This record gives sequence, structure tokens and C-alpha cells, in this order.
Amino acid sequence: GKPLKVAVLGCGSVGSQVVRLLQEQATDLAARVGSPVELVGVAVRRLDAAREVEVPEGLLTTDAEGLVSRGDIDVVVEVIGGIEPARSLILSALEHGASVVSANKALLAEDGPTLFEAAEKAGRDLYYEAAVAGAIPILRPLRESLAGDKVTRVLGIVNGTTNFILDKMDTSGAGFADALEEAQALGYAEADPTADVEGFDAAAKAAILASLAFHTRVTDADVYREGIAEVSATDVASAREMNCVVKLLAICELREQPDGEEAVSVRVHPAMIPRSHPLASVREAYNAVFVESEAAGQLMFYGPGAGGSPTASAVLGDLVTVARNRRNDVRGPGESSYADRAVLPMGEA
Ligand code: HSE
Repeated sequence: GKPLKVAVLGCGSVGSQVVRLLQEQATDLAARVGSPVELVGVAVRRLDAAREVEVPEGLLTTDAEGLVSRGDIDVVVEVIGGIEPARSLILSALEHGASVVSANKALLAEDGPTLFEAAEKAGRDLYYEAAVAGAIPILRPLRESLAGDKVTRVLGIVNGTTNFILDKMDTSGAGFADALEEAQALGYAEADPTADVEGFDAAAKAAILASLAFHTRVTDADVYREGIAEVSATDVASAREMNCVVKLLAICELREQPDGEEAVSVRVHPAMIPRSHPLASVREAYNAVFVESEAAGQLMFYGPGAGGSPTASAVLGDLVTVARNRRNDVRGPGESSYADRAVLPMGEA
């Protein structure tokens, strides 16, 4: 078939691995999609920045808006992160007829509905598996595989940095500050660790998980959030004595209300869990999502939740799906049909 044209926005740790995989897996991707997948542009902030990948001659541009609006792009991959300019670029890409693959948890959690409505209006796809828990396939199972079941609870360890810190405190008896320093030295925590440590990153992912699990609209403003900065070596030691471990959990659940209706509660906070629980075995910077549903029972999804190459794996999976949909002239399920389930303010009952 005729080549599918792909533009990538951002060439940082995820973007460069997306570009690498597009080149290295070109033959397999073409076979899986049914048409060659052609990289036609990579938008970056600076042309002369150091990069993990060699971008082919002539593909780099600093004009992201020009790239997404040129009119012949089939799929735009957004791996810039943050709210702006990512949101404007995604909206422009959809308006100009492209389907979109994004890894942007902050944007999806803050303003997902604006993007879903734009995709619906344009008749194009918007996929974002990489936005939650990196390489772990969890959004598609919630949206599609479990769509005939009733999910009642989702418990996630969805921030690798804080899991690394809490695991370090548990295994070595270190205090929070020392464990954080080690996480920073190993390149897990950012220089400004606020988004991880204070639970903002996990709250964004919790909002996305809850939206899909309960087929409703949850934004990060609905999520009660408490980070791990106050967790002390003593807290971890007392948990240990009770045969428990402290984890930063994203907790999304259906709660029955006094009127008999079910409402959605979403919270992120440190929690003690028994060492016998599957989530207790999630060590270092790994992520896991534990799902409880009426018919299936208990499921756990486990794997690397961050990093350029694992996150790029999820992006490429979406890219293949979106490319196949375009070839077959169909749209994916989208997020247009939501149940009208109430969301409890800040996770409270
Ligand atoms: N800072 C995040 C984490 C990166 O530590 O899990 C992945 O979103």
C-alpha cells in the first residue's frame, strides 16, 4: 500500500527511541501495518542539541506547527510532554487530518475531554497507552479487553521514582532524604523531584486509569493526593514489624453512596500493604497495576513504567494500531461514550 507518513514531535529520551525503532523495525512494521511506515519529520526545540539517535538528514525541524499542519501527515506522535505547546499541536494535527499517538499523562489527565472531542469531530484516532505505566499494556485492557466486565477497583504503583525510594527505605532502613538522593544519583528522580515525590505524577495517571476503568471522566483535579515526603524510616520499620510494606498507591474504586448509586473515588497516598499482596513484590522502579473486576476477579499487570525504550515500545504499539485503522479506514473505540457516573470530589466518600 501507499506509505503512511509519520511525524514525531519531541526527540528526548522517548522520542529518540521512537525514531530508532521506526528505523530499525521498518520492515516488520510495514508487514504488520500492510504499508511502509515513513518518518517524514521530527520537531525539536533546538537543531543542534545532543541526541541519543541519529535523525536522517533533512527531517529535523523547529517548526512543529508547520509540520503538523502540512496536510499530508497520517500519524503525529507527540512525545514533548507538558500542557503547551503539546495541546495546540495535537488539536492542530487532528484538524489537519492526522491521527495522534501521545505519551502525555499531564495533558490527558488535565484536559483529556477536549482532545477526545477534537478526535471525534475530526474522525481520527487518539491513542495514549504510553501515558500510564510506560511499557505496561494497561489502558487497552481497561478500555477494550475488560469492556464486557465490571471493574470495581484499580490499585496502581504507577510512579517508579517513589517506588524506588520506598523500596530503598524498606530494604536498607535509609531515611527519605538519603533514599531520594540515591534515586537522583541513579537518574530516576529529576533534579526537581516534586512531581514524583508529592504524587502529582501518580495522580495524573490515576485520573487516566479511573476514566477508562469506570468509563467516566476523571481529571487530576478530582484526585485526592498525598506524597511520600512525610514517610519516615520509623513508619517503614513499623510497617515491616506488622509484615507490611509502604507503597505509594493510586487507588481508583467504585463506592456505593447512601442513595444506592455508585460513584468513583480516586486517591493517591502512601499505604501499608501486607507482604503477601502481589503489589508488595514490586521492587525498585518497577510499576504494576492490580485490577479487580466482577467476572475476571483479580489481575495484575507488571513491568517497566518509565524510560525511553520501554515507553517507546508502548508508543510504537499504538502507532501500529492507528496505522492499521487508517489503512482499513476505521476509527478505534475512542473515548466518546462515557457512562454518566458521578466522581467524588477529591476521592472522598
Ligand atoms: N517520573 C515518572 C516515574 C516517569 O518515576 O515513574 C514515568 O512517567
